[in-house]
Amino acid sequence: MYKIITDGAAKIKAFSGEITKKDEVFYNPKMKMNRDISVIALNVFQGTRDRDIVVGDMLSATGIRGIRYCLECKNIKSIIFNDLNPNAIKLINENITLNKIKNATVLSLDACEALSRYKFLIDYVDIDPFGSPIQFLDSAARAVSNKGLLGVTATDTAPLSGTYPRAALRKYGAVALREDIKHEVGIRILLANIARECAKYDKGFNPVLSYFHEHYFRVFGTIKKTRSSAELNIKNTGYVAYCKKCGFRELTKEKISICDCGEKIINAGPLWIGSIFDNDFCKNASKKAKTFDAKKLLETISLESEKNCLFYDIHYLSKIKKKAAPKTEKILEHLKKQGFFASRTHFSPTGIRTDAKAEDIIDFI
Ligand SMILES: C[S@@+](CC[C@H](N)C(=O)[O-])C[C@H]1O[C@@H](n2cnc3c(N)ncnc32)[C@H](O)[C@@H]1O
Ligand SMILES: [Zn+2]
Repeated sequence: MYKIITDGAAKIKAFSGEITKKDEVFYNPKMKMNRDISVIALNVFQGTRDRDIVVGDMLSATGIRGIRYCLECKNIKSIIFNDLNPNAIKLINENITLNKIKNATVLSLDACEALSRYKFLIDYVDIDPFGSPIQFLDSAARAVSNKGLLGVTATDTAPLSGTYPRAALRKYGAVALREDIKHEVGIRILLANIARECAKYDKGFNPVLSYFHEHYFRVFGTIKKTRSSAELNIKNTGYVAYCKKCGFRELTKEKISICDCGEKIINAGPLWIGSIFDNDFCKNASKKAKTFDAKKLLETISLESEKNCLFYDIHYLSKIKKKAAPKTEKILEHLKKQGFFASRTHFSPTGIRTDAKAEDIIDFI
């Protein structure tokens, strides 16, 4: 049944209940948090721009995302909505009228074809597909403008986080990791794939905000069209070297074969070894958050974004030590006293992002 629902500042007509038929138009109220954070990210980005922008909501469904951008973000010159489902197009048009959206173009094409019409012309490209975004990344990287922003959702967290390693290898050309830091490794694999696609067009990709929530990954990165920026995409691609026996982990440009403890190292990747956040961007985003959940998530992210290092799950390290771990807060205090960077991470309630070594934490447990 179709109903009028509220999502952020928008009132739209959307299917309420379980989607059973292929031609029904997708709307997931649980993804409101994704849209809330995307609105915040676009607002932070626009704070850095001095002109009106073109937005591309390339997998629109009801149009809710693009409509919210128009209602909740300033300085939008025009917007492109696109969806392959003809029923979505009817609904997008109705919802545009309902929300009095101006300067909208509505397309019903494969997203890659739609993006191909706008080479280097869309200032903010939003890719929000079912499952993996991989098939859209080349076209998105081409369409995004110099100094633009790219936002990508991936709901295929299982392959990216090591549950289906063959699928990760096929789709993302990378070895995933099924250990405590599996979700961060998944995000880093996704970022490296985006950066690779951007590099083809001499575009640098700089991740500004990346997060994992419930069943999806969402990443945002800014684009700079110079050869030297694109070179950084390659420089920032490497591996996570990981030892299951002693807890060692490291972001590394080259693969490592044997751990100091004698165990064989797993080299997950290729993946993004640069920062997955921009500290200023995340701090600004955190200040703009209005809902409790978005605030909580972005406050943690703005703390962990201060340093590009990996995190450790304390439960995981306590299993290695075969001893119950002290409270996470106590370990954080101890590491900071020792002069290490240490913060909580949004990836896990028992995770600590730190530049300390596994043994520094294990000794304290
Ligand atoms: C996850 S939904 C988008 C949800 C929407 N962005 C939101 O925030 O509510 C994905 C949409 O992509 C559309 N779609 C799937 N494959 C497509 C393709 N190759 N090109 C364009 N649209 C496609 C589907 O019809 C569906 O409406
Ligand atoms: Zn080891």
